[in-house]
Amino acid sequence: MSRLSAVIRGTGSSLPEKVVTNFDLEKLVETSDEWIATRTGIRERRVAREGETMSQFAVQASVRALEMANTPAAAIDLIICATVTPDMPIPSTACIIQHRLGATRAAAFDLSAGCSGFTYALSIADQFIRSGTYRNVLVIGAELLTKYLDWSDRTTCILFADGAGAVVLTGEETDGRGIVATAIHADGSMADYITLPGGGTLHPPTAESVRSGLHFIRMKGNETFKLAVRSIEEVCREVLAAAGVTAAEVDLFVPHQANRRIIDAVGSRLGMPPEKVYLNIERTGNTSSASIPIALDEANRKNLVHPGDRVLFAAFGAGLTWGAALVRW
Ligand SMILES: CC(C)(COP(=O)(O)OP(=O)(O)OC[C@H]1O[C@@H](n2cnc3c(N)ncnc32)[C@H](O)[C@@H]1OP(=O)(O)O)[C@@H](O)C(=O)NCCC(=O)NCCS
Repeated sequence: MSRLSAVIRGTGSSLPEKVVTNFDLEKLVETSDEWIATRTGIRERRVAREGETMSQFAVQASVRALEMANTPAAAIDLIICATVTPDMPIPSTACIIQHRLGATRAAAFDLSAGCSGFTYALSIADQFIRSGTYRNVLVIGAELLTKYLDWSDRTTCILFADGAGAVVLTGEETDGRGIVATAIHADGSMADYITLPGGGTLHPPTAESVRSGLHFIRMKGNETFKLAVRSIEEVCREVLAAAGVTAAEVDLFVPHQANRRIIDAVGSRLGMPPEKVYLNIERTGNTSSASIPIALDEANRKNLVHPGDRVLFAAFGAGLTWGAALVRW
C-alpha cells in the first residue's frame, strides 16, 4: 500500500578548509594527542577562519543537496536550519540562507535543540510533509561552535568544531521508502549540563559579561556522557519499535558524532556490528547539529547507502534533548 512519505532526495555538506590537529591543541592547553584520541576518538577537526560565517557553509551544503536532489531552490517550501550558532540573533539564519539560495517561496526558521537539532528538524519536516502541507523541505544542520570556545579550557576546546550538512526531503507516494519513524525528547531539569550563558536576555552582552567568559560553551562532560549513552539507546529502541524493525535489520547507523566512546557504547548495547556504524569523528570533531547530516552526506557519496536500506539517526545534546529517526532509503 502506498503512502505519502518524506523521502531524502539529496544530501550535501561543507566543512571549513582549516584543519586543527590534536598536536596543535597540545600547544594551547595541557593535553595530548593520545588523551584526546583515546577519550574522544578525535584526531583533528575543521575550524572556521575569522570572517567565515555559519550561513556560508550552510548555503554551500544546501546547494550540494539541491543539486543531488535535482530540485531548484525555487521549489523549496520550507527551510529549517538547526543551529545553536546562528550568524546573529535577528534575523534567523534560515532567512539569510533562503535569500542566498533564491528559495523565494520557502518559509524559513531556525531551530535550537543543541546537538539533537537535526533529529528535531527531521521530525518537524516529516510532519509537514506527511500532512500534505509542504512537498519539498530543506533541512540543514550547521554550526560554527569554535567561535564560542574558550581555547584555554581543555574540557571543551578539544571537542567542538565547525561545519554544515543538509538534506532535501520530498513528499512522495511510496511503498515504505522515506522517513518511517521519529522520536524527540527533552529534559530541562538538566539545562545546566551544557550551556553558553551569555549574550541572551539573562546576561546581555557587556564588557563585563565578555570579561567573565559568559560567551563560552561550558559542559559537565562526565555527567553528560552517562546520560547520552542511556538516552540514545532508549530513543533508538523507541523508533525501532515504532517502525517494527529490529536493531539487526538496520543497515547503517549514523549517530551524532560527540564522542567515539558514546557511539561504541550505544552500538554495543544495541548489538550493532561496528561495520554498520558510520564514524567520522576522528576527522570532524563534534559539530553539534551538523554532525549527522555531514556524516550522512559522506556515507551517501561513498555509496554506503542503497535503495531499501534502513538508516538510523540518533543524537543527544544541550537542553537536554535527544532524538532519533529511522529512514528507509
Ligand atoms: C568531555 C569528555 C571527553 C571528558 O572525558 P572523561 O573521560 O569524562 O573525562 P573526565 O571529565 O572524567 O576527566 C578525567 C580527567 O581528565 C582530565 N582532562 C579533561 N580534559 C582533558 C584534556 N583535554 N586533556 C587531558 N586531560 C583532560 C580531567 O581534568 C580529569 O582529571 P582528574 O582525574 O585529575 O580530575 C567526555 O566526558 C565527553 O565526551 N562527554 C560528553 C560530551 C557530549 O556528549 N556532549 C553532549 C553532546 S554535544
